[in-house]
Amino acid sequence: MTASCGAEGRAEPLQLRVNGRAQALAVPREASLLQVLRNDLGLNGPKYGCGLGQCGACTVHIDGMAARACVIPAHGVAGRAITTLESLGTRGDWHPVQAAFEEAQAAQCGYCLNGMVMQVAALLAREPGASEARIRSELSGNLCRCGTHIEILDAAQRAARRLRTTQP
Ligand code: FES
Repeated sequence: MTASCGAEGRAEPLQLRVNGRAQALAVPREASLLQVLRNDLGLNGPKYGCGLGQCGACTVHIDGMAARACVIPAHGVAGRAITTLESLGTRGDWHPVQAAFEEAQAAQCGYCLNGMVMQVAALLAREPGASEARIRSELSGNLCRCGTHIEILDAAQRAARRLRTTQP
């Protein structure tokens, strides 16, 4: 049987905590977190790229740490705090990282943007003034096929500078 998330198998009850809200679902053990977020909960910020944990397009935060939702079983993160791009900021009230990406025009097709923003946001939450070297290292596993890396790095550094001066 194919569940609404798209995974094969018998649906089993699952409680997730996504963007601060409790979600009661029924999905197969085989379902990835990405399938559940996109197909059951309609959260399309995280993207399906490689499906192998290698491109970063599907990045979300789990308990504040960046994680690849395509290779994480949804049942494995029951009760953990899952955050998607949808709850990072809103139009008119962007998260500092989103604001910096907009200022730096750090997008071409935009497909990698979710992963870039979520990866940088998780890093700067832990290390508000992260160095360029630290940012480069953190983004080394996030792929952009358009070649917008220079603008993405610029955006991440803008956000780091801003957070460095606003945080105690
Ligand atoms: Fe998850 Fe590529 S889609 S890492």
